[in-house]
Amino acid sequence: MSSQKAQLIDGSVAVVPRRGAPGAPRPGAEITGVDLRAIDDAAFAAIHRAWIDHQVLLFRDQHLTDHDLIAFSRRFGDLDHAPIQENGQSIANGMPEIYVVSNVIENGVAIGSLGHGEAVWHTDMSYLSAPPKASMLYALEVPPAGGDTSFVDMYAAFEALPDALRRRAMGLRVKHDGTYNSGGYVRLGVTPTDDPREAPGTLHPLICTHPESGRRMLYLGRRKMAWLEGFGLAESDALLDEIWSFATQKKFVWTHQWRVGDLVLWDNRCTMHRRDPFDANTRRVMHRTQVKGSAPPMA
Ligand code: SIN
Repeated sequence: MSSQKAQLIDGSVAVVPRRGAPGAPRPGAEITGVDLRAIDDAAFAAIHRAWIDHQVLLFRDQHLTDHDLIAFSRRFGDLDHAPIQENGQSIANGMPEIYVVSNVIENGVAIGSLGHGEAVWHTDMSYLSAPPKASMLYALEVPPAGGDTSFVDMYAAFEALPDALRRRAMGLRVKHDGTYNSGGYVRLGVTPTDDPREAPGTLHPLICTHPESGRRMLYLGRRKMAWLEGFGLAESDALLDEIWSFATQKKFVWTHQWRVGDLVLWDNRCTMHRRDPFDANTRRVMHRTQVKGSAPPMA
């Protein structure tokens, strides 16, 4: 992460905002001087503030067990159980809160989800009525190349929307599909259909207000099988394509290249993320937690 001057926020904990191109708002800050196994309430309060302000936080050089990861995650609230993996496994190492993101196959069985391909832009679990408010991903093994994760700032995308497009988007609701995960795999127990109106999923406002920052943002979820309530399919696809191509412009995006020991925490309400593909013959093992949302996304 290229960085600006660190701001000391609590004793030794510092927040280093990410530097975007001039005039280009992008999410992200690095938090330095912190061991997430041993933070006190003041340090947590500072981290929480930075998370609301910067949307995506990077902590380098952590040494976390799954228990440590769960304990830090729980400081933000109760945890959601991980979505069931493509192979039907729902519990990693006996811990239902941990979602294993990995391409590794052991004894013929995938140890995690999403494989080695691209994971398309998405908000985690937005097909739920109250999607997680935060997610965090901890890097245990990373490939020598590829597998970078990008985050898009949905406040900035909303704020920059051209007036005409903003007017067309106002008051609409999107159906967030529950058929496919971001790796394109069908979720266990779901029978896929081509018609998003028939698929399992949940309607959320297209423009939402963040419950903590009070800022408005686009809330898109994922593109595949999305549908604008009350629209014909072609009309819905056309408007969604226009909004998606605007929202995912590079100027709103921060891309993270992983090192082992990185923990990235994101605000799942006002960002989306995607992952680059990587060589199937290399190993990538990440453990993710997701903090329960307290309420459905609100207009
Ligand atoms: C995810 O969508 O949570 C996984 C992203 C990644 O593998 O980098």
